[in-house]
Amino acid sequence: MARIHNFSAGPGVLPEEVLREAQEALWDFQGTGVGVMECSHRTKTYEAVVESARQRLSKLLGLNKDQHVLFLPGGASTQFFQVPASLLKGGTAAYLETGYWAERAEKEAKRYGTVRVVWSSKATAYDHVPRPGAWSLPPDAAYLHYTSNNTIYGTQFDYVPEVSGDALLVCDASSDILSRPVDGSKFDILYAGAQKNLGPSGVTVVVISQKALDRCTKDLPTMLQYDVHRENGSMYNTPNTWGIYFIERVCAWIERQGGVAAIGEANARKAGKVYAAIDGSGGFYTGTVRADSRSHMNLTWRTPTEDKDTAFHKEADKAHMTGLKGHRAVGGLRASLYNAQNEPAVDALVSFMGDFAKRNG
Ligand SMILES: Cc1ncc(COP(=O)(O)O)c(C=O)c1O
Repeated sequence: MARIHNFSAGPGVLPEEVLREAQEALWDFQGTGVGVMECSHRTKTYEAVVESARQRLSKLLGLNKDQHVLFLPGGASTQFFQVPASLLKGGTAAYLETGYWAERAEKEAKRYGTVRVVWSSKATAYDHVPRPGAWSLPPDAAYLHYTSNNTIYGTQFDYVPEVSGDALLVCDASSDILSRPVDGSKFDILYAGAQKNLGPSGVTVVVISQKALDRCTKDLPTMLQYDVHRENGSMYNTPNTWGIYFIERVCAWIERQGGVAAIGEANARKAGKVYAAIDGSGGFYTGTVRADSRSHMNLTWRTPTEDKDTAFHKEADKAHMTGLKGHRAVGGLRASLYNAQNEPAVDALVSFMGDFAKRNG
């Protein structure tokens, strides 16, 4: 069957060029006669992949020499507890509560100390993120944690929050890493499950500063110690070789697109088309989040009724557009326009939106 337009929130669409390269590497990796999933992580060929992935990510994220890139197992959900287990030690951490994943991160942190929710949009169904300065940090906060893009609710920070005093800055960037220019050198810990903008599920990119590493307790199981993974080049245990291979290739693809700046422009253009279709629908479609918080990655909206929402994604499926049903916690509709989402897919969606509104308005 021919490929269809995939608006899935994750695992999400990947660049076609990379998928084709990966197909070949699965069979014969770089002329070795061995597939990339069958080759030891200790071979020179594979070690070069990990090193290249690290270097490309460092460059694309604008990291400095005191920041380390790790490839870890357990998904972003493991970072929800690995961060506080390492840094909290019974102390206090500040959380910006902007959605489901932020809440999940808080829940795990409570096991290790006091969680201060310094800002929340829960009362308005997570329809916005805070503007800079809308919260203040407790003086004893070990770190501030925030989610840069809220995959389920469709909001996104368009700035990096500042921290003061001794607090570290921690970010869950699972659904918008490398989607727009962001100064990566500001983060003490930045983590992202790969399955949206970087590759397949099962590997998590963790950027950690030396300052944060120096504060991590060593009183944890070995696999939970960031420094062990740094010392061992993310090969303390057998890493997700397929996932890291993919991240390396996706980073090379981003470079070929013109880097993160060009990707960011393309993402703004793609999201702008869908938001224009929502806003220009004469009230048929309603965006579910405030205009100043709209995500370029996950776009959420509704039709006038739940029945029409259902009709929309069912008819879209028939028109070869999948993944448009909103998350079960929110309902409505959601289109995920990750980096690899191509413009023809977005144009097809916009055209379908116009047609559907005409027939049902
Ligand atoms: C923003 C965000 N954080 C965390 C997660 C959880 O990631 P994982 O399934 O890799 O644990 C997700 C998954 O969709 C997400 O969107």
